[in-house]
Amino acid sequence: MAGTIASALVTGGAGFIGSHLVDALAASGCRVTVLDDLSTGSRANLEAAAGRVRLVQADLRDPAALADAVAGCEVVFHLAAVVSVPRTIADPLGSAAVNETGSLQLLEAARAARVRRVVFASSSAVYGDEPSLPKREQMPPKPLSPYAVQKLAVEHYLKVYNDLFGLEAAALRFFNVFGPRQDPSSAYSGVISIFMARALDGMPPLIHGDGSQTRDFVYVGDVVAALIAAATAAAAAGRVFNVGTGGAVSIRRLWAEVARLAGAACTPRFGPRRAGDVPHSVAAVAAAAEGLNFSPRVGFEQGLALTLGWFKENRKGP
Ligand SMILES: NC(=O)c1ccc[n+]([C@@H]2O[C@H](COP(=O)([O-])OP(=O)(O)OC[C@H]3O[C@@H](n4cnc5c(N)ncnc54)[C@H](O)[C@@H]3O)[C@@H](O)[C@H]2O)c1
Repeated sequence: MAGTIASALVTGGAGFIGSHLVDALAASGCRVTVLDDLSTGSRANLEAAAGRVRLVQADLRDPAALADAVAGCEVVFHLAAVVSVPRTIADPLGSAAVNETGSLQLLEAARAARVRRVVFASSSAVYGDEPSLPKREQMPPKPLSPYAVQKLAVEHYLKVYNDLFGLEAAALRFFNVFGPRQDPSSAYSGVISIFMARALDGMPPLIHGDGSQTRDFVYVGDVVAALIAAATAAAAAGRVFNVGTGGAVSIRRLWAEVARLAGAACTPRFGPRRAGDVPHSVAAVAAAAEGLNFSPRVGFEQGLALTLGWFKENRKGP
């Protein structure tokens, strides 16, 4: 389906998820522009697509750079963000300037440039500690951090731009995304990349709480498929979709699988539960199946093996 997108802007395209999307779009013959300030992303992530992508190295809040990047694009994929929840708690104003105002500036630039559709990377964080499972898109959101509030605010702006201005817009609530290029060196990176780095270094991981908490881990290649479907499916405009697998994996089981695949024998250390940690999170997947014709193809163990293979080749050591 990517072949039907002639030109696209990917904000945050030098990041973990964005760079996989860039690879898929470029491979399909799409003309791709990336807008990224390289704050958490890197040029190395764009190596596979080198020569086929235009990189605008700029901040999302720079209107001139936005206008330049969005010119001539049919679709905008908006993934650039302050992605660390703790950073948004430490700096609500600074993070809102990027995640909220920056997103609004992008919508204005897209409207001015007559972009057909904007697809936004939202998050399962908008559900907060709402206890019912699985998380359905119609549930009242309960954001527990500035990050989640900022994602939710942008979802609302998208709907308003969709309805008021005819700028087609879809939001995808990613659950726990994992795969190659996820950076384990940041304290805020995904648990899988941290566990893999520990396992390969033969070090025990630290599990917060007793490890019975569960997450819905979705492979990055499947997230890319959902993003492209959200840009092309007629029924997606004006809607919000979960992107997960519908399966729950406990943190204990995750470590057991990673340790088995990596041949690591260390026993985890257990620390106090993290404040605000949601006990269980799993996506309802019916809306994405119906509206995007999306269902994940990469099984959990297969995704782990692919990710571990990449880590073995690319890790920088302990
Ligand atoms: N990884 C996950 O599990 C997950 C889950 C839910 C939602 N998301 C969302 O998906 C998107 C991509 O996340 P990721 O995991 O690939 O993170 P990432 O940090 O690898 O990617 C974010 C990219 O945005 C860029 N960026 C940050 N601030 C910018 C700014 N002011 N101007 C221009 N570029 C800027 C960074 O340099 C980076 O390349 C984010 O919006 C994130 O909130 C990710």
